Amino acid sequence: MLRTHNCGELRIENLNNIVKLSGWVQKSREFGGMTFIDLRDRYGITQLAFNLEVNAELCEKARKLGREFVIQIEGIVIERSNKNKNIPTGEIEINVSKLTVLNASKTPPFTIENETDGGEELRMKYRYLDLRRNPIQEKLFLRSKLAKEVRNYLDDSDFIEVETPVLIKSTPEGARDFVVPSRMNEGQFYALPQSPQTFKQLLMVSGFDRYFQIVKCFRDEDLRADRQPEFTQIDCEMTFVEQEDILNTFEHMMRHLFKSVKGIELKDFPRMDYADAMRLYGSDKPDIRFGMEFHELNDVTQNLAFKVFDEAELVVGICAKGCASYSRKQLDALTDFVKRPQVGAKGLVYAKVNEDGSIKSSVDKFYNDEQKQAWADKVGAQKGDLILIISGNVNQSRSAMNELRLHLGTELGLRDKNTFAPLWVTDFPLLEWDEETKRFHAMHHPFTSTKEEDFEKLETAPGEVRANAYDMVINGVEVGGGSIRIHDRATQEKMLSLLGFTAEEAKAQFGFLMDAFEYGAPPHGGIALGFDRMCALFGGSDSIRDYIAFPKNNSGRDVMIDAPAPVSKEQLDELFLAQKQSK
Ligand code: AMO
Repeated sequence: MLRTHNCGELRIENLNNIVKLSGWVQKSREFGGMTFIDLRDRYGITQLAFNLEVNAELCEKARKLGREFVIQIEGIVIERSNKNKNIPTGEIEINVSKLTVLNASKTPPFTIENETDGGEELRMKYRYLDLRRNPIQEKLFLRSKLAKEVRNYLDDSDFIEVETPVLIKSTPEGARDFVVPSRMNEGQFYALPQSPQTFKQLLMVSGFDRYFQIVKCFRDEDLRADRQPEFTQIDCEMTFVEQEDILNTFEHMMRHLFKSVKGIELKDFPRMDYADAMRLYGSDKPDIRFGMEFHELNDVTQNLAFKVFDEAELVVGICAKGCASYSRKQLDALTDFVKRPQVGAKGLVYAKVNEDGSIKSSVDKFYNDEQKQAWADKVGAQKGDLILIISGNVNQSRSAMNELRLHLGTELGLRDKNTFAPLWVTDFPLLEWDEETKRFHAMHHPFTSTKEEDFEKLETAPGEVRANAYDMVINGVEVGGGSIRIHDRATQEKMLSLLGFTAEEAKAQFGFLMDAFEYGAPPHGGIALGFDRMCALFGGSDSIRDYIAFPKNNSGRDVMIDAPAPVSKEQLDELFLAQKQSK
């Protein structure tokens, strides 16, 4: 063995033990005739001591060690005169008698400590060094613990873990597919799965009853802090269930995870239907850690002289508690915020409810005191509060107000990372109209069933049909989504035709699934939780990247291995791609 103990386990009880340790040189310092080295491994840091007077040769050798050298030492555990209360091994040090260099190290491009001087790009290029740092290691330990608890929970609930193929045919789920050319089938391509959706449904047809898989999914979409081109889902499906059964099962699972991993008892998840989420928060994933709900103000603002409001489809306001003291500068900053192209509002109207009860607004020339008081009553504003109003077309003003609400929530410290506010959003619309292609798209995916009572509307008012679809939202993050599925051929055919598939296209793309539905397909439904997002949420971070061992950057590149990269002409020839390349 290269070690008797790891670098995090020796304590005062080990005094006088002869030990062998191995690890990385984190730091060394000289102090009179003494040299001290912090030896680091995954478990912690132990201080090594070398005394020039006692063993000059050894001490000289120690002084030559650079940062990140890999060494092995032998020595005796002694009590430190200068104790370090900040680390568990801080009461002891090792009086070293033997030092072996196991491997040298070049000076690392950034310091490998909790706080590093390395920028994002550099740390990604040398990700294996970044991964030596404690805060990053902790994130991967959290990920591993969560995965283990997910498996425990689902295993205890009779779910079977089944692997589904990675080389498949494209399934339309909203994003672009990554495609893989087939060497053995000229001109033909596999696609990497955006999710195992159709396979898990087929497993239900096969009678597995309860399936799960912690599975890589691939989507060629624009990247953000919460999106990677390859990411991991906890993908689940259940047979003979209704929506209520799925919500209960996965709410329990999430509560189990919070309890076992964070020691937090979550209360029952509230439910909100999509229409309310949009009306009250302008978002299908509202952050309900704080209130500041929307209030529609059309009836108290319109037809009273202010043209901008009169012409608006929606006038919507929020009440920022205690913010009447905002300065001109702060209000201008909020106006600039909502006018940014990403937010898209044309402007922002404010009204301050002063301590004397008077209301001062940015549109005072159009409204009298009584009219402004009606706004205050409607949004629940009291003395000291600030009313903020956006107007315009319904979708745009809701979306801009959502951004403003979240921005203010952050600014006012209402979005504490250690508070968790889960929510089920239900009753999503089945279809979404796409102006560009002038046709309907499935809001979730084409396998989602309709609310029974809305089924008839498929013919008459498809845009109004609600789906048996739900999302799990925590702190404004869409953690997961799922639905109760269609399980008969006729309905699936009808759905695909509504989505613009010809009968031939439907058969070519999904014939296998519809055929399977004709052999005793049971009612079924499921959900997929975004595992990377869950990890980031549990870890209190906005970015999923730190929770992925080897992530891609915002251009979809792995800068460490330098991928994607060109391939040789021979490879292209073999894949029948050479011609296209040279064009
Ligand atoms: P959906 O497309 O909603 O559903 O995906 C499920 C969850 O996966 C996470 N997610 C992502 N995480 C990181 N990077 C991405 N690019 C990314 N895209 C999605 C989200 C999301 O809620 N087959 C269906 C599920 C079902 O119906 O059972 C599906 O994939 O947290």
